[in-house]
Amino acid sequence: MATTTSNPEASVAADAVGEDGVRRRDFIEIAAVSAAGIGGLIMVYPLVSQMAPSADVLAESTTELDIGSIETGQAIKAVFRKQPVFIRRLTPEEIAAADAVSTDSLRDPQTLAERTQEGHEDVLVVMGVCTHLGCVPLGAAEGEDKGEFGGYFCPCHGSHYDTAARIRKGPAPTNLAVPEYTITDTTLVIG
Ligand code: FES
Repeated sequence: MATTTSNPEASVAADAVGEDGVRRRDFIEIAAVSAAGIGGLIMVYPLVSQMAPSADVLAESTTELDIGSIETGQAIKAVFRKQPVFIRRLTPEEIAAADAVSTDSLRDPQTLAERTQEGHEDVLVVMGVCTHLGCVPLGAAEGEDKGEFGGYFCPCHGSHYDTAARIRKGPAPTNLAVPEYTITDTTLVIG
């Protein structure tokens, strides 16, 4: 005659609880899931790595724009190496405001002339990436908040940039970066 046991010790032994409290059955399930995850990664990575542009291709890419139609006081947003870049044609008032600031008072001392090109001091080209934690500041599009100093404003943590895109207030440590670029007639080539 068949017999059944209701011995609680036998049931505990079947679950084999270890000193760390993990049952053997739990361990087997976790190991199986982990193996599936690693297999998935191995299959996905070659696809992603084949689709992504190589580092040297990315580093050599340039952005070319006709800036002839950007009116005084207007800014546009473009993309350079997958990051936003702002191009602004400064008004005489914005240039005067930037030039009126003593560089001694600046966290990242630079003149407007040092941030623009000779003969094109009214064209300000900067990366649209806040130097605090990388948010995209406001101020390039019509009607956007330009902050307390009339340039760009990063609302993430309150960084204010002036008309030369220099940091004036808030946590950002440095000015908005100026990329390498050339201007020939009305053609701007960044990179
Ligand atoms: S990311 Fe711009 S202020 Fe923090």
